[in-house]
Amino acid sequence: TYVVTDNCIRCKYTDCVEVCPVDCFYEGENMLVIHPDECIDCGVCEPECPADAIKPDTESGLDKWLTLNADYAAKWPNLTVKKDPLPDAAEHDGEADKLEKYFS
Ligand code: SF4
Ligand code: F3S
Repeated sequence: TYVVTDNCIRCKYTDCVEVCPVDCFYEGENMLVIHPDECIDCGVCEPECPADAIKPDTESGLDKWLTLNADYAAKWPNLTVKKDPLPDAAEHDGEADKLEKYFS
């Protein structure tokens, strides 16, 4: 599966949902997550994210993100159509430790 990681938080550009062939993105207030059981590993979303927040789970160090994506994909509503990014997305793009600062 692919996973959404830290830099999505407070940006939420949503370019990713436009290209996903199986519509497996789920939306929280500050970020999106990918449902790991629905993702077919096609990889097309990864280069579409302006914040470079989407990674394959074959990369090391992503365990906490895989768990977070799985947990919240089960709770949050599906998002299938691109919408406006969060209003201060550009300021938060690239900021460190967004999970600790902003995730709720
Ligand atoms: Fe969707 Fe493909 Fe991205 Fe998985 S890798 S979330 S199937 S676009
Ligand atoms: Fe987030 Fe990137 Fe999608 S910022 S909403 S993973 S396009």
